[in-house]
Amino acid sequence: MKIAVLPGDGIGPEVTAEAVRVLEALGLPGLTLAHADVGGAAYRQHGHPLPAATLELARSSDAILFGAVGDPTCDNLERALRPEQAILGLRKELGLFANLRPAKVFKGLEDTSALRPEVAGAIDLLIVRELNGDVYFGDKGMTTLPDGRRQGWDMMSYAEDEVRRIAHVAFRAAQGRRGKLCSVDKANVLETSQLWRDVVCEVACEYPDVALSHMYVDNAAMQLVRSPGQFDVIVTGNLFGDILSDQASMCVGSIGLLASASLSEGTLGLYEPIHGSAPDIAGQGKANPMATVLSAAMLLRHSLGLEAEAARVETAVAKALADGVRGSDLGGSHGTVAIGDAILERL
Ligand code: NAD
Ligand code: IPM
Ligand code: MN
Repeated sequence: MKIAVLPGDGIGPEVTAEAVRVLEALGLPGLTLAHADVGGAAYRQHGHPLPAATLELARSSDAILFGAVGDPTCDNLERALRPEQAILGLRKELGLFANLRPAKVFKGLEDTSALRPEVAGAIDLLIVRELNGDVYFGDKGMTTLPDGRRQGWDMMSYAEDEVRRIAHVAFRAAQGRRGKLCSVDKANVLETSQLWRDVVCEVACEYPDVALSHMYVDNAAMQLVRSPGQFDVIVTGNLFGDILSDQASMCVGSIGLLASASLSEGTLGLYEPIHGSAPDIAGQGKANPMATVLSAAMLLRHSLGLEAEAARVETAVAKALADGVRGSDLGGSHGTVAIGDAILERL
């Protein structure tokens, strides 16, 4: 079992180190961890945010544990050299098209949600975000119009097979949960979304046991804070899924809590917190590593088939939270390493 560990930038290395401690504490026989540079850190060392050696290591591993990329000092580089291209490149090159972002309120955290406790307490949802298409990967450019005005443009598109395969992932996920699937789009305005909705309806015929509904993304953003308990599985495109998952994190309590799995057709998966490199708190030892530790749990479950170990890690995090362990993001005073220690103690 070979895991590529790609810590990246900002708080990435800080939170990844705690997840690595947790994985090592499990004492899994035959587990090897191989670290490599990615993002701005890789750009500075090797001149590219996703060096060939890092991509090759990721490709030849059973799973990838990823921290975060992003560095304000790189924001004016040409786009191909910016840190964010590393995560986009990994997702595309490795065919990681299915992004699972679960959001569930932990016991005892109802009061830290941005929502009223009785509203927050009902949250148990899964966002299934398409990760290989949409406006993220279409042609894009910046041009100057004949009259001298600058114009930026990005092409949004989905091909039907791209929608079909993520729809299958979402329907199957709903079958394993409460049997409800809400497809989120903007079909009242966008042709891309109309195709999305048509294809999701076609795939639905194969899943008569799943209750399918459709919602426009603006309404979905509103419903997520009005009554998030209504959602079981949400399936949506790359851009809408990015935005709605950050929103879901604050409904749960903090972006420092939300994990994700990015899966391919095979067993290879990439596991990362949904948050970024948080330059505003990087280097201060106060980032919450729980999202990354929970991502490591998803790695154990989805890529290594170690359900019992995954559940052990999730239970340790839940216990730490129930015992009052809180990072600054949750209004507490526990630092990154102290939170890691608290999880390890309960493991
Ligand atoms: P961000 O998620 O990095 O931070 C948003 C806010 O949440 C900040 O105030 C930050 O301090 C806080 N925060 C995030 N994670 C936290 C944690 N674990 N504990 C405590 N507080 C936490 O989003 P941003 O500021 O918009 O982006 C910063 C950089 O990260 C950008 O360069 C962006 O492109 C990048 N980014 C990368 C990824 C990724 O690698 N997958 C994801 C999102 C953003
Ligand atoms: C995320 C991030 C990335 C995205 C960025 C860093 C490219 O926001 O993983 O949610 O937009 O997918
Ligand atoms: Mn995001």
